[in-house]
Amino acid sequence: MREYRIAAIPGDGIGSEVIDAGIRVLDSLVKHIGGFNLSITHFPWGTDFYLEHGKMMPDDGLEQLKKFDAIYFGSAGDPRVPDHISLWGLRLAICQSFDQYANVRPSILLPGVQSPLRDGAADSIDWVIIRENTEGEYAGAGGRVHSGHASEVGLDVSVFTRSGVERIQRFALDLARSRPQKKLTFVTKSNAQRHGMVMWDDIFDQLCSKYSDLTIDKMLVDAMTTRMVLDPKSIDVVVATNLHADILSDLAAALSGSMGIAPTANLNPEGEFPSMFEPIHGSAFDIMGKDIANPIGAFWSAVMMLNHLGEASAAQILMNAIEKCTLDGTCLPQDLGGAATTEQVTDFILDMIRGSNDRV
Ligand code: IPM
Ligand code: MG
Repeated sequence: MREYRIAAIPGDGIGSEVIDAGIRVLDSLVKHIGGFNLSITHFPWGTDFYLEHGKMMPDDGLEQLKKFDAIYFGSAGDPRVPDHISLWGLRLAICQSFDQYANVRPSILLPGVQSPLRDGAADSIDWVIIRENTEGEYAGAGGRVHSGHASEVGLDVSVFTRSGVERIQRFALDLARSRPQKKLTFVTKSNAQRHGMVMWDDIFDQLCSKYSDLTIDKMLVDAMTTRMVLDPKSIDVVVATNLHADILSDLAAALSGSMGIAPTANLNPEGEFPSMFEPIHGSAFDIMGKDIANPIGAFWSAVMMLNHLGEASAAQILMNAIEKCTLDGTCLPQDLGGAATTEQVTDFILDMIRGSNDRV
């Protein structure tokens, strides 16, 4: 029996609602498909933990997580604590310490889901945004001096290293090569940022020569936003810096129907550390505790986690179940225009899994 150890960190806001739903679905896949087992350990880390202990996770938190095969994460962020404290104390600490440098953000217009774009132009949204996830604008370098004085200075320094840039660009190029369209859009802002971004471009030009089988184009990040809206069909894989891809992936999620659907994988591709899987919607405090959170982002993130673990059939069954739910349309959460609760959507997916024999 293949056995995987999963660390579940529901975190803040709707995190626990969607991660609980995701675990019900994962348990059902284990039961239904067999051949593998998931041993899931819960970690009650997040803002409540911070308010009690003065830190988002214990000092040996990373040490505890190291022995797991994957981390299933909800969200971090709560109005009672400044966001930069909760995020750096948990999620960003995990991404950086575990060298999860490849952030993978697929966007697909799922069957039955309405895009805000007109004319069916969105019919073929099938993108993967690859976000550099450990350095760039999120490197954490900078400082603040002369607090409160007129001379106060605040600095956030973008840090780009040749090795960091090369590995994420190579990751994106290899991913593009593995997809049918074999297309990659390289996003930059080297017209205005003349150091790190120009190095980002130079490294890409050097790598590109080994990928002549791909169709490659370059876009400035601002122009990329308009292309995503006006010519969505022309896009396949996109690679961008940490901040640029953060912004583009929110746009991608909205264009493909809702933030509530979008999943992400924070990968340490070499497998030296566990990788982490999470919906990108965040803690969504305004809807917390109402049982209306969309669990699909957490389910799709579970699909990515299962694929990462090597359980492709289970992943496919879950993805099929998600697509049946959106296509069927009778049990959609509010953000997709329905009236179903988190629990009802989860029950629908569980029914689809139970009825999924031989349909992989
Ligand atoms: C995301 C989120 C985070 C990020 C925030 C919550 C720090 O927006 O996963 O895209 O910017 O990385
Ligand atoms: Mg974001």
